[in-house]
Amino acid sequence: MVQQPDWPDLGALDRSLKRLAGLPPLVFAGEARSLTAAMARVCEGKAFLLQAGDCAESFDDAGANSIRDKLKVILQMAAVLTYSSGVPVVKVGRIAGQFAKPRSSNTEMVGDLELPSFRGHIINDDAPDPSSRVPDPERMIAAYHQSAQTLNLVRAFTKGGFADLRQVHAWNQAFVASSTEGQRYETIAAGIDAALRFMSACGIDLSTSTPIHQVDFWTSHEALLLGYEEALTRQDTLTGDYYDCSAHMLWIGERTRQLDHAHVEFLRGVKNPLGCKLGPTSTPEEALALCEALNPERIPGRLSLIARMGAGKIETALPPLVTAIRESGHPVAWICDPCHGNTFTAPSGPKTRDWDNVLTEVEHFFAIHRSLGTWPGGLHLELTGDNVTECLGGSDKVLDQHLAENYTTICDPRLNARQSLDLAFRAAELLHPV
Ligand code: PEP
Ligand code: CO
Repeated sequence: MVQQPDWPDLGALDRSLKRLAGLPPLVFAGEARSLTAAMARVCEGKAFLLQAGDCAESFDDAGANSIRDKLKVILQMAAVLTYSSGVPVVKVGRIAGQFAKPRSSNTEMVGDLELPSFRGHIINDDAPDPSSRVPDPERMIAAYHQSAQTLNLVRAFTKGGFADLRQVHAWNQAFVASSTEGQRYETIAAGIDAALRFMSACGIDLSTSTPIHQVDFWTSHEALLLGYEEALTRQDTLTGDYYDCSAHMLWIGERTRQLDHAHVEFLRGVKNPLGCKLGPTSTPEEALALCEALNPERIPGRLSLIARMGAGKIETALPPLVTAIRESGHPVAWICDPCHGNTFTAPSGPKTRDWDNVLTEVEHFFAIHRSLGTWPGGLHLELTGDNVTECLGGSDKVLDQHLAENYTTICDPRLNARQSLDLAFRAAELLHPV
């Protein structure tokens, strides 16, 4: 079993897992089934997935404002994509459980100090001292409770009026509204207002139309920490099937997708919609074997393949995979993660990504699917609603010397709200070229 912490106290681990197993599920089997149905539409080329959020959620950033602002930018992006392309957008957050991080090494250097790697707040703390890095199973309980609180707010925001289409202007935050992409968004928002007024004037009673007042918003995270995921797995009373009730959708990361390993074995046993990352070294045989293992019954919507190749590699790495899967007849949703193959260390020190590389990978992704006659099913992004300076470029031209100004991620660098919105405009053009 790779990427699992070395828990120092197995008795304490056992106690935490038993407590988790006795707590209520965070999501319900019926909800996971509804997301599978929505993802089936993505497989058929009739919907587009927008899956986005933090690289790693933080125990120190659990307040309402950051959750609200993340929702704002995702709702804005979805409005742009839907309005411009006419294609419904399935909205999934990397939220309410995205706490565990895979690491390429068991230790990391912080200055001159070699420390056990930070593995996400569900396992240890990011403070640069040895005692903070000791894995603590109590953290799984804290992660569960933070996920419940976050999910509660997400449900309130998305069902209680905040996501109402008549609020479309309110999602444009002040620092975004004054920018080029913010202005461009206002034009779309005005178009949505006009369409709603038109429908009202035609006698359509908008007050009774649920899709105008509420959105379906789903949760997802990497199913990395298997003890936690198992402890939250429940048997559905209606169907007898098992669901991992820690999130609606779970994905397998690039470092844990080995066919004969525990992560694939665990996830093939639960009925949630799944994602599996595919990096540039993936072979068509591996991709096919993953489809067979994770979706032997070929259920549309069950499996998304999330390509994270890198802007310079996607043109050679992705087409053989898409071709092989297409020929096999496996129903998959092809999703583009243009973030994880484009991470590098900036000259000034922090990990970063360049918005231009992110866009380039997205452009290649659309072009490849167009040329192969397959559907570019969606985007998987690391972003935040805040005005951070973690990724270079974008229309506000974040430069290396700006990275230190507002670099707050505890793991990978995230697109800020403006960079995210700008990307949504570009993707909308690619989805529906005019
Ligand atoms: C992630 O999504 O944060 C991640 C670690 O991705 P990958 O497994 O693709 O490297
Ligand atoms: Co990441």
